[in-house]
Amino acid sequence: MSSAEQGVGEILIPEADVRTRVAELGAEISADYAGRDLLLVGVLKGAVFFMADLMRTLSVPCEIDFMAISSYGAATDSSGVVRILKDLDINIAGRNVLVVEDIIDSGLTLSYLMRSLRARKPAALEVCALLTKPERREIEVPVRYVGFEIPNRFVIGYGLDFAERYRNLPYIGVLHPDLVPGATR
Ligand code: PRP
Ligand code: MN
Ligand code: MG
Repeated sequence: MSSAEQGVGEILIPEADVRTRVAELGAEISADYAGRDLLLVGVLKGAVFFMADLMRTLSVPCEIDFMAISSYGAATDSSGVVRILKDLDINIAGRNVLVVEDIIDSGLTLSYLMRSLRARKPAALEVCALLTKPERREIEVPVRYVGFEIPNRFVIGYGLDFAERYRNLPYIGVLHPDLVPGATR
């Protein structure tokens, strides 16, 4: 076990399965957007890893940009009020925008983001998330492309962190039970 893997309880989605699914999503997206160009919008920081791999499987012309959003905090306030810490560099009016996320949990982050992006009048606005935890959803958000539906467990790796660590694991793991904090995320 490498030191990066200390704290991994078990492997939920092995590296090979992640890679296969990312390629499938890439093929599906490439077919759907054939003849159009795509702007991938990544949500920092977790989405960076998935987005970089997904982009390399796309056969349509594509660009990337990023947003950073403040967490709604420990209060788990379901108001969905979050703050933009870093906005897009470019104007998305008339663009085909695909928001890329590593995971959708309560849906609050994405719900806020979609409201903000929709107001900027993109030609198309869809979401691609590697993981979704349906049991945790507080707000419904339409997600066009989903990699895996997962149970309500604390997952790490492939961009997902626990206290900012473990993002570099090449697979999706479950945090060791000894480390799981009171909240499930
Ligand atoms: C995580 C994850 C999603 C969001 C999902 O990000 O990457 O962006 O939470 O949760 P929600 O559906 O309940 O809103 P986090 O805020 O931990 O920031 P990070 O990407 O920098 O880890
Ligand atoms: Mn995130
Ligand atoms: Mg996080």
